[in-house]
Amino acid sequence: MRVLLTGGAGYIGSHTLLQLLQKENEALVFDNFSNSSPEALRRVKQLANRDFAICDGDIRDADSLDEAFRDFRPEAVIHFAGLKAVGESNEKPLEYYGQNVSGTIALLGAMQRHGCARIVFSSSATVYGESKYLPYDEDHPLQPTNPYGRTKYFIEEIIRDWVTSWPAASAVLLRYFNPVGAHPSGRIGEDPQAIPNNLVPYISQVAVGRLAQLSVYGDDYDTRDGTGERDYVHVDDLAAAHLAAVQFSARTRGCEAINIGTGRGATVLEMVRAFEKAADRPVPLRITARRDGDVARSLAATAKAKQLLNWEAQYDIDDMCQSTWHWQSSNPNGYTD
Ligand code: NAD
Ligand code: UFG
Repeated sequence: MRVLLTGGAGYIGSHTLLQLLQKENEALVFDNFSNSSPEALRRVKQLANRDFAICDGDIRDADSLDEAFRDFRPEAVIHFAGLKAVGESNEKPLEYYGQNVSGTIALLGAMQRHGCARIVFSSSATVYGESKYLPYDEDHPLQPTNPYGRTKYFIEEIIRDWVTSWPAASAVLLRYFNPVGAHPSGRIGEDPQAIPNNLVPYISQVAVGRLAQLSVYGDDYDTRDGTGERDYVHVDDLAAAHLAAVQFSARTRGCEAINIGTGRGATVLEMVRAFEKAADRPVPLRITARRDGDVARSLAATAKAKQLLNWEAQYDIDDMCQSTWHWQSSNPNGYTD
């Protein structure tokens, strides 16, 4: 199959690219490298021992998209490209709507012009907002609480309308829970450009000595130990879910939203302990105030992914922490090493 990956040089895109190549698919990465490094692609090529096409372009640029679609003639698109920092989206909402929403509209237009009718989209559990019940199933009300989350919600609606207007089209909206971990080779992984916002990259930079200590945002939540509980999912499980979703999109029409998580939660302190075991060293921490906008618990209902994609997570939090540590300790400064 010929698959075009927007944002294919990024954290989740690079892991998915590797699995696509290992399964004998042809790939084109369309990325503007605003939050990624060409080095990630060089390493994927080495690991897969296979070549693929690269287009340095912006999804908002219709001419670049047209050129890529004309040359490569993809059968399906996996759409990762976009901005993803919740805090930054509060400060720069127009930038987020421009890149994420307008970028997706440009992409869907190019797909239609070139007869490419299948898309898998990177959505997020953040579309659910405050939980009415747990675990979140795909019918849970959608009430995102920040501009980033609203871009995902609006894009989901736009893709639904696009699919309705084009009988040949099919779309899978994957609502990721908390992706963490790295490829077991330690060659590719998450490489945040600034101080990480997310828990596991932060812990791992403390463990490797780049940051002094972890701030635990609140220990007075209604959870087992008072710290926030999340559904962490290994990036290689997530990559496998994309392959299953692309195949599913070939045998169906219409639009499906599907949660991608494990259905099991871990608290902040449980993740710290798992990481300390994986890295065999202490992770200094202090308890601080809650972070604005955080919920106590987030957990995925996983039945729909199993039923439609025949996908379920294989890895647990020990695997996630061990692979993160292998990547971080082999590449203390990420791809700039
Ligand atoms: P990432 O930043 O590592 O990857 C995104 C890639 O898109 C980068 O390579 C970046 O250079 C590229 N890009 C950004 N804007 C672009 C544009 N206008 N044109 C072309 N390329 C562009 O992020 P990631 O963690 O791999 O996330 C991938 C997708 O999954 C994003 O859409 C994100 O919102 C979504 N998501 C991520 C998480 C998470 O925790 N990582 C959770 C839920 C959803
Ligand atoms: N946390 C800390 N200290 C930190 C960072 C995080 O204690 O330095 C805690 C948070 O309070 C939360 C947990 O660790 O309880 C997880 O926080 P993350 O920032 O790693 O993840 P979130 O669940 O807050 O958000 C993530 C992505 C969002 C996405 C959301 C739902 O960052 O982009 O999952 O998919 F929208």
